[in-house]
Amino acid sequence: MTNSPKRYLITAALPYANGLKHIGHLAGAYLPADIYVRYLRAQKRDVAFICGSDEHGTAIPIQAMKEGTTPRAIIDKYHELIRQNFADLGISFDIYHRTSEPLHHETAQEFFTDLNSRGELEVKESEQYYDEEAKTFLADRYIVGTCPVCGNTRAYGDQCENCGTSLSPEMLLNPHSTLSGKPPVKRSTRHWYLPLDKYEDFLREWILTEHKDDWRTSVVGQCKSWIDGGLQPRAVTRDLDWGVKVPLPDAEGKVLYVWFDAPIGYISATRQWGLNTGKDWRPYWYDKDTKLVHFIGKDNIVFHCIIFPIMLKLHGNILPDNVPANEFMNLEGDKMSTSRNWKLEMEDYINDFIKKDNGGTQLADSLRYYLTTIAPETKDSEFTWKGFQDANNSELVSKFGNFVNRTFVLMHKLCNGKVPPLHTERLDDVDREMIIAIEATAIKVTKLLEEYRFRDAQFEVMMLSDLANKYMQKKEPWIVARTLEATPGNQQLIDNCLHLCLQITANLAILINPFLPFTARKMLYLMKVVEKMLDWENAGKLKLLSVGYSLRAPELLFRKIEDEEVKEQIAKLQAASAARITDGPIVPEGAVTKEAVAKPEIVYDDFAKLDLRVGTIVAAEKVEKADKLLKLSVDLGSEQRTIVSGIALHFKPEEIVGHQVVVVANLAPRKMRGIESNGMILMAEDPAGKLHFVQPGSTIQPGSGVS
Ligand code: MF3
Ligand code: ZN
Repeated sequence: MTNSPKRYLITAALPYANGLKHIGHLAGAYLPADIYVRYLRAQKRDVAFICGSDEHGTAIPIQAMKEGTTPRAIIDKYHELIRQNFADLGISFDIYHRTSEPLHHETAQEFFTDLNSRGELEVKESEQYYDEEAKTFLADRYIVGTCPVCGNTRAYGDQCENCGTSLSPEMLLNPHSTLSGKPPVKRSTRHWYLPLDKYEDFLREWILTEHKDDWRTSVVGQCKSWIDGGLQPRAVTRDLDWGVKVPLPDAEGKVLYVWFDAPIGYISATRQWGLNTGKDWRPYWYDKDTKLVHFIGKDNIVFHCIIFPIMLKLHGNILPDNVPANEFMNLEGDKMSTSRNWKLEMEDYINDFIKKDNGGTQLADSLRYYLTTIAPETKDSEFTWKGFQDANNSELVSKFGNFVNRTFVLMHKLCNGKVPPLHTERLDDVDREMIIAIEATAIKVTKLLEEYRFRDAQFEVMMLSDLANKYMQKKEPWIVARTLEATPGNQQLIDNCLHLCLQITANLAILINPFLPFTARKMLYLMKVVEKMLDWENAGKLKLLSVGYSLRAPELLFRKIEDEEVKEQIAKLQAASAARITDGPIVPEGAVTKEAVAKPEIVYDDFAKLDLRVGTIVAAEKVEKADKLLKLSVDLGSEQRTIVSGIALHFKPEEIVGHQVVVVANLAPRKMRGIESNGMILMAEDPAGKLHFVQPGSTIQPGSGVS
């Protein structure tokens, strides 16, 4: 595909509307997509940015069961929350649609009917898991068991969330129904299949040859291993009552598989966008001169690179030009996980930073900035609160913000608050080098954006602000100002420096706009120029601000993140994870056949660092306003410790007094709900998520060592 196709269709994975989304999702798909789209818009390209809620699949009714409500209530609630979260963080979809909309059902049914009526689907009778008590087939997440790959005892019938492996119900060891908790039986049922196996040659040619150099290595690699592993026909229907009904008379009680209907959601959303804007949506999906790019996380690769493209090909649509999938983002040393409550939700960041800060949209940009500096483009990356603070304070505040602020302050002080003229005859090598760097940066950033290398692109913009700071430092216009009385002609040197610094500021606004849109707009405000200045064709140019034009008084672009805020967030994360309710599928007791072996090997010295002791619980009480926490006093022989433990949903305070437990005695203290906790109690968790104390076989002296 050439670099200038007629139009762009950019999609970001439709999030399941079954819960709030965390910053790993944001960094994986939505933020990079938004950066790319904002760049394209600044390029004046014709672009549609499509997203919306994925509202089908078993994840939705299961969440409804958990929350004691209906699937409809779940999708209505989370659709709105997630949509708003994205808006608050500046993710600028052209439409945020829903797969529960009639237009989507219609579009998905037409798609299915088209493939089926042309004989592209196979119909097969097979044995599938059935719950005799609940009288229903157990699709996907209605069945849980032990993952054959990693031993996780809570793997779902479609995927193990611990190791990410795609599964089918038959692969689970010890399968159980999430409805009744009983082992299922097998029953015969009929389903429609997409024969992926017929398209191996096409996929090899299209991905492994045609796109082997312009797609990310990790994406091509994953596709290769799927293809080499041999593709099987895939069922595209399910026995389920939540979803898009299979549009055939003899398919009572069957719906389209969520991964069949959801990507068609991109198409129905585009149709709705066409209706909203009066644009013809068809060329976006049918004209070869459209560049289609899917932004996704790596767990979605097979669906976007193998299954959906086959569907698109059969239906006569265009294929994606690229699928720049990201790896995962970890958080403070551990995998982000909803079930373990180890995550930072967009909602929480918005409440704790953006809203608290008086609608401080600059803090939306601070998050966007840091997430892009650690974008997991080629390997997994890690979010740490300290890293966030550093990126914000020492890069946004001290470099970018500082440069813009100094420029404005000096311009007011030394140039009457107006853009000073450029006296070309007095430019020196330092000036000229700076001018060259402006243009060079624009070229580099453009190239990197076209290659989906957002992390490097943003880095180049920051480098420009860094160079600009150094330039100003070399020129020292505030020192030159002291010579004015003796040499009035030196005002020209001051003018030149600040003229260039202001043109750099304008360039920084253009170049940073895709990444930090709120900041770019604030810069426009300070420069008193209109949005049009942000057109990408202006990048690298020098005459963006006219001489003599008066600019506003300086205002800070960013604020510092304080140590206190960082500490609070870390404490909050730890408290939330300690107090988690065991989420995830319900597995009846005794279902463990194989224990999870998920941690790397350690040496004895690692173990010897732990000071484990037997303690006796002498008092226990509930922690106010924290329904999951108990405050315990534990007798360790030589001392009595206060330990806050997230076990309140499992034990009543009065029933545990007198019990012996094993305590990690040398764990660094941490505050939970204002109480300092000094140590941790070891617990064993059974497959049903019930907790049990780890304790000595019979009562022994408190303080006894455990090794
Ligand atoms: N809901 C899926 C997920 O969160 C993504 C669906 S992408 C689509 O993993 F293409 F199917 F829409
Ligand atoms: Zn697994």
